[in-house]
Amino acid sequence: MNPQEAQLKIEVKTTDKIRVAEAKKVSTPNNKGGETSVGLVLSFLDSHTELRRPNTKVGNGYFVDFSKVDRRRGAGNLSKKQPLPKSMGLTNQTVIDATAGFCGDAVLLALMGFQVIAIERSPIVSILLRDGMRRAKEDIELWGAIDNNLHILEGDAKQLLQVHQDIDVIYIDPMFPKKKKKSPLPPGHIQLLSQITGDDLDADSLFCAARNAHAKRVVVKRPNYAKQMGNNPVAIHKGKQVRYEVYGSVS
Ligand SMILES: C[S@@+](CC[C@H](N)C(=O)[O-])C[C@H]1O[C@@H](n2cnc3c(N)ncnc32)[C@H](O)[C@@H]1O
Repeated sequence: MNPQEAQLKIEVKTTDKIRVAEAKKVSTPNNKGGETSVGLVLSFLDSHTELRRPNTKVGNGYFVDFSKVDRRRGAGNLSKKQPLPKSMGLTNQTVIDATAGFCGDAVLLALMGFQVIAIERSPIVSILLRDGMRRAKEDIELWGAIDNNLHILEGDAKQLLQVHQDIDVIYIDPMFPKKKKKSPLPPGHIQLLSQITGDDLDADSLFCAARNAHAKRVVVKRPNYAKQMGNNPVAIHKGKQVRYEVYGSVS
């Protein structure tokens, strides 16, 4: 558990056996009590598992909810004209998302028809993802749309990439580097995420592991203000605030 996760308080308000067991796995002598200095609370409720600030009401925290994604086929975020799917390459099918986070990008790719394995190393974020998947599976329409295209693994992608061969695309979206100038805060759930996971300071070594992993291409999402992750991308697909750098083959 990293230092950020150590500042968590774990709160169990459900009797659901699977989630009580998950809570036990991440409980330490330090995070079970009611200490006042906690940065965040991970709450296991009957309905869902959420992350909240201590001054937010129970039930009003952030939880992974795939049902909120706009599922119109071919339109909006799911249009193949968006820079994210363009960067994947239209003939490619299998994607490892090596930095799953709350799976915002992974679920979009799955809904577009890509076969996605999403890897997340934070045990806390992984708990929230498994909870989101559990509820998605109970929603027949939503699960039909994800269509078994999304599989989530907990672990460090630097190691797990080595055991997954024959993948078309490895996708990396590390935490954005901090801007030097004062700038608006990122959305609330991204602030929570970075409070839990820290700054992904090893992003360069993840990029190297991805380049050595024999995928057809590696795609890196970067904010437009940041320098390129590697030398000589074969293509760059630009969005308003971010760009997708493609390394490897363009086909
Ligand atoms: C910026 S977030 C990704 C956001 C995600 N693309 C989305 O749309 O929700 C980066 C995430 O990658 C995870 N991460 C960073 N390096 C990793 C690694 N080597 N293996 C697995 N997960 C990693 C971090 O814990 C964090 O949750």
